[in-house]
Amino acid sequence: MAEFTGESYWLLSAATFIFIIIIFFLAGKRKEPHKLPPGSRGWPLIGDTFAWLNAVSGSHPSSFVEQKIKRYGRIFSCSLLGKWAVVSADPVFNRYIMQNEGKLFQSSYPKSFRDLVGKDGVITVHGDQQRRLHSIASNMMRHDKLKTHFLEDIPVVMLQTLSNFKDAEVVLLQDVCRKVAIHLMVNQLLGVSSESEVDEMSRLFSDFVDGCLSVPMNLPGFTYHKAMKARKEIINRINKTIEKWLQNKAALDTAGNGVLGRLLEEESLPKDSMADFIINLLFAGNETTAKTMLFAVYFLTHCPKAMTQIMEEHERLAGGMLTWQDYKTMDFTQCVIDETLRLGGIAIWLMREAKEDVSYQDYVIPKGCFVVPFLSAVHLDESYYKESRSFNPWRWLDPETQQKRNWRTSPFYCPFGGGTRFCPGAELARLQIALFLHYFVTTYRWTQLKEDRISFFPSARLVNGFKIQLHRRDNDPQRQ
Ligand code: HEM
Repeated sequence: MAEFTGESYWLLSAATFIFIIIIFFLAGKRKEPHKLPPGSRGWPLIGDTFAWLNAVSGSHPSSFVEQKIKRYGRIFSCSLLGKWAVVSADPVFNRYIMQNEGKLFQSSYPKSFRDLVGKDGVITVHGDQQRRLHSIASNMMRHDKLKTHFLEDIPVVMLQTLSNFKDAEVVLLQDVCRKVAIHLMVNQLLGVSSESEVDEMSRLFSDFVDGCLSVPMNLPGFTYHKAMKARKEIINRINKTIEKWLQNKAALDTAGNGVLGRLLEEESLPKDSMADFIINLLFAGNETTAKTMLFAVYFLTHCPKAMTQIMEEHERLAGGMLTWQDYKTMDFTQCVIDETLRLGGIAIWLMREAKEDVSYQDYVIPKGCFVVPFLSAVHLDESYYKESRSFNPWRWLDPETQQKRNWRTSPFYCPFGGGTRFCPGAELARLQIALFLHYFVTTYRWTQLKEDRISFFPSARLVNGFKIQLHRRDNDPQRQ
């Protein structure tokens, strides 16, 4: 066997080193034929996943994105969940991504989520099927329906759920808002109004919604498993309602009022798709609306001037049944809702995948790459919103911000997304939140019992829970 001298050892080491460098260089070249936006890979395998999760679970979810923007600009690449991701805090590119949904990009969800919300629902399907279901959803919640069906039903639910707290009762506001939102959904989607039925469906809906944000283990004892069971039971009940309706269209009044009843009358969806359709609306509309109600009250509690102004706005409408004209006069309330959606980050980012190699500016985003329009990074960008982290509902009256305000088309303000997946429940959600604020501020005053802060993972929430003591306003001497 040949012996290694010191010199040959050095030569071999140098050759091995150069060989490794060349392989690395070539492998790197082979893996990245595309010109991705600037960025870094983070740690081997895990990439930036933990840094990302750490940021979004804190009280400032766009901190990770902000750091990267400082280094690389508003469009950058990083590595998430073992894959390249292009993240955008650029308003124009965000709109471009949303407007090219189904063409260059498409939304993507894990299988566990698709199994739970249903494979035939608008959220999980693509292409023509998505457009058809989306247009049915928009039709179900369009203006004239809000003015009639929804405006009649929402106050009934508000009075049922909000009026019964005793004077000095202590509540966790997130529980109250969740209950209100679930009751609204049960009532408006299924047309259910008997209290026992609402309670039973609310329990099932609540189990189902919890599962959407849980570890996807379909084994007894796990939240996901409970949610799958709730899904089955909800589908059973929806199907029973459909069958009853098919047997006797005239006599069934339970389906007459809800979206399901109107769906049966006006559209021709297969029975299986109908249950998934309803479940998708439930998933998309429930937590988002409940959180916006909660954060609106939270922000108002910390801003006495805004609280006084919103009370004055609603005080003059208190007492009688609210009309559409009344709703249209709630200008300051609309500013509060917009500011809550901007600052509260209810839908922080959207998840998309490139359907093909996409060229944008000088970059080429490879097929299959994650693409993340980070909506709340734009909403919190100081160059678009002065003092962006403070709650200032009056900013929406400022002519400069007013230009950004159109939440259907503005690149600077998209709390309801955009393009073909634009939220079909946006107008309904705003109506529900405005009426919730109306009933809440005209029925109660409250004091916060414990300081709190917002966290954003797995979804936006208040860390300690918003514990408040309610004081009924019918006992308020100034009001009598
Ligand atoms: C404040 C409350 C709400 C917020 C912030 C909100 C936000 C959003 C956003 C950002 C999207 C786009 C998702 C994406 O592009 O991937 C969306 C989609 C959707 N929203 Fe809402 N939403 C709210 C309330 C509602 C309500 C009340 C309903 C119905 C009852 C609803 C039904 C839907 C549906 C069905 C979709 C999916 C549309 C599709 O994929 O074609 N949302 N929402």
